[in-house]
Amino acid sequence: MSTKTYRKLIAKQFNQEFQSAVEIVKVPMTKPAAGQLLIQNKFAGINSGFDTLLCQGKVPYVNLTPPFDLGVEAVGEVAAVGENIQAFQVGDAVVTTARGGGYREYQVIDANLAVKVREATPEVLTLMPTGISALVALEKVGEMKSNEVVLVTAAAGGTGHLAVQLAKLADNHVIGICGSEKKAGLLKELGCDRIINYRTENLDRVLKREYPNGINLVFDCVGKEVFDVCLENLAIRGRLVVVGFISEYGKNLEQVTRPRMYEQLFWKAASVRGFLMPLYQEYAAEARDRLLKLFYSGKLRVAVDPTQFNGIESIPTAVKYLLEGKNCGKVVVRF
Ligand SMILES: NC(=O)c1ccc[n+]([C@@H]2O[C@H](COP(=O)([O-])OP(=O)(O)OC[C@H]3O[C@@H](n4cnc5c(N)ncnc54)[C@H](OP(=O)(O)O)[C@@H]3O)[C@@H](O)[C@H]2O)c1
Repeated sequence: MSTKTYRKLIAKQFNQEFQSAVEIVKVPMTKPAAGQLLIQNKFAGINSGFDTLLCQGKVPYVNLTPPFDLGVEAVGEVAAVGENIQAFQVGDAVVTTARGGGYREYQVIDANLAVKVREATPEVLTLMPTGISALVALEKVGEMKSNEVVLVTAAAGGTGHLAVQLAKLADNHVIGICGSEKKAGLLKELGCDRIINYRTENLDRVLKREYPNGINLVFDCVGKEVFDVCLENLAIRGRLVVVGFISEYGKNLEQVTRPRMYEQLFWKAASVRGFLMPLYQEYAAEARDRLLKLFYSGKLRVAVDPTQFNGIESIPTAVKYLLEGKNCGKVVVRF
């Protein structure tokens, strides 16, 4: 290992804007201790929602004070191994999902936290943890069945495009909501039964007209009015899974005054359920193995946004790009 230093992105202070909270720092290369691996990151997944909330100090289960490391999932290659490592060797491709391990050129990590994969590609990276989140949210929280109507918001995004396909693989009628014709094109290729571009069609009107019996399962990534419309159009015993509320990240939460939600839920025996992947870790390994099998057998397609983000310095731009809703598929940064 000839490199003496490497770069990483840290949050130097809390700030409403991710771009104003972060800075690139150069740190000395560390050697892996016994039981550890040194990994050269090749790609990291961009999670603008989480990144932004983290830099605002608004992730309740994370108790961090700046400076702290950023980024979560990365795929890379083992650059050095510590003592007592049998399962890995230099050159192995691995995925890691440790908080703080993503937005950096190298990381040292306990070997039991690395997952060996066939190759260090952005597609494999997208399956973990983005695909895992989609699968666990649909199955464990949403109690996904077959022959139901499933609605996915931000359906052409990193998480959404996988949720769409998983709901189709389970033999459901899938409605995909998106904000551009290009995204609608991707959803068509993925087999969505009804694509609603909310910029050209009114979501509420379409749902009321075409789905008078309502939606059985909603996978909502967006929040605000989209959440309201989905809630109102739930079927009897419908389930709405709150996967995220990206329309409010980076802003102060909108205050709304309206009748309490139970009035809408009670008469349909419907429910709203929150999903947070860190609270469902016990399902991650099984979900990961199933997703990889589906991917390698050609049953699951991974869409990676084609815009190139290269190097640590491109991360703030990539975070902004996703938050502005410009992406189609998963946003990744290449090191
Ligand atoms: N709960 C968990 O554990 C967990 C895990 C992973 C992800 N998530 C959540 O899943 C959601 C999707 O995350 P992702 O990283 O995969 O992002 P993404 O879906 O790839 O990108 C976000 C998409 O959201 C849509 N969007 C709709 N309204 C928006 C608005 N007002 N501002 C910005 N974007 C808007 C945009 O697509 P359109 O143009 O089609 O509207 C945009 O492309 C986020 O809410 C994220 O926090 C949650």
